[in-house]
Amino acid sequence: MPHNDFLQPIDQQSELTTLQILQGVFESAQLGICITDSSYRYVKVNRAYCDLYGYTEAELLGKPFTLVVPPGDHERLEKLHDDFLSGRVDEIAQHWTVRHRSGRDIDIYATAGRLVTPGGHAYKITTAADVSELKTLQKQTEYQQAILIQQAKLAEVGAMVGAIAHQWQQPVNAIALMTQTLPLLLDQGTLTRENLNSHVEQVMQQIRFMSQTMNDFRDFYLPSREQEIFHVSDAIATVRDLLQGQLLKAKATLEISASEPLLYSRGYPSEFKQVVLNIINNALDIFQEQQRHDGHIAIKVEPDESMLTISIRDNGGGIPVELLPDRIFEPFFSTKPDKGTGIGLSLARTIIEEKSGGTIRAENGPEGACFLVRIPRHIR
Ligand SMILES: Nc1ncnc2c1ncn2[C@@H]1O[C@H](COP(=O)(O)OP(=O)(O)O)[C@@H](O)[C@H]1O
Ligand SMILES: [Mg+2]
Repeated sequence: MPHNDFLQPIDQQSELTTLQILQGVFESAQLGICITDSSYRYVKVNRAYCDLYGYTEAELLGKPFTLVVPPGDHERLEKLHDDFLSGRVDEIAQHWTVRHRSGRDIDIYATAGRLVTPGGHAYKITTAADVSELKTLQKQTEYQQAILIQQAKLAEVGAMVGAIAHQWQQPVNAIALMTQTLPLLLDQGTLTRENLNSHVEQVMQQIRFMSQTMNDFRDFYLPSREQEIFHVSDAIATVRDLLQGQLLKAKATLEISASEPLLYSRGYPSEFKQVVLNIINNALDIFQEQQRHDGHIAIKVEPDESMLTISIRDNGGGIPVELLPDRIFEPFFSTKPDKGTGIGLSLARTIIEEKSGGTIRAENGPEGACFLVRIPRHIR
């Protein structure tokens, strides 16, 4: 449209011109809009832009946009501005942290457009929307998720604490016995350097075992802070070790196999172990419910190009078909009248699908339930 059409009414009945419409949009938009020139200075800002940053129009016009940029970012953003205006790079819409006049940081979502005059002068049009509240909400959700995972861990871990106490009973007795025999040997005159050393070594062995159990438990119990590369079968084996007492009590066996020795994943090992624990606990529950004394759990790790599949299979008779594929994963769904919380599998799904970039599903095999957990593979 020729330039002066902007000044013509948009139709015969109307007095509104395109220019007035554009001005109206610019001024009334709830979205901050600013136009900056090649020396980074504001040449036009709308009301929403001023409100967003806490300045008046007069305070912004003629000033460089770095006024609202945290100091460490000045150079980088000036260069981006240059590259954008010259057409070297296109700026994609994205999140930034910027500085309000009061000094506090705000999170914005910004888009950029280029405006080139017939004379060849380039300007940048930036729109900015405040997303601080969204960010806060997101952080709260993540925080609540973390609390929920930790609470579920407490619920599933209860029996394990008893099992560890049980596991410790044996070495504690052994250490007590070995210590008590020392003065006896001395009295009998049979305490030599050699059997003292052997005593010490045996005591140390028991202590190392106890301390290993405790370390495994602590590694399991503390939430993982950052993503780590971990050996998947080893992680599953520590869960098996922690559960040794409960497996013995249930007279159940657990077998871990892998189709290759070196299968790693990158993710959150402590949370992954919790998923495995929750699934094993469910199998133990069903063995107990059916008073089975030949309960068996088979865990297998298999790779494909980019993922690992961990299948956890039991011989507990299976999941009622009407609860498949998704009902059992619903929060608080449980078929166990007294002891069920219904969070085990729902948390497992959150951990695997939201935190770990994987999937989890359940099906029935010939003898019982089979859980298929897929997580990203890491190749060393
Ligand atoms: N291995 C399994 N065999 C049969 N049913 C299972 C198995 N694992 C889970 N389920 C079913 O899924 C439901 C939900 O499991 P979960 O979320 O761990 O909660 P909870 O164990 O507290 O009941 C269980 O109540 C049970 O009905
Ligand atoms: Mg459970």
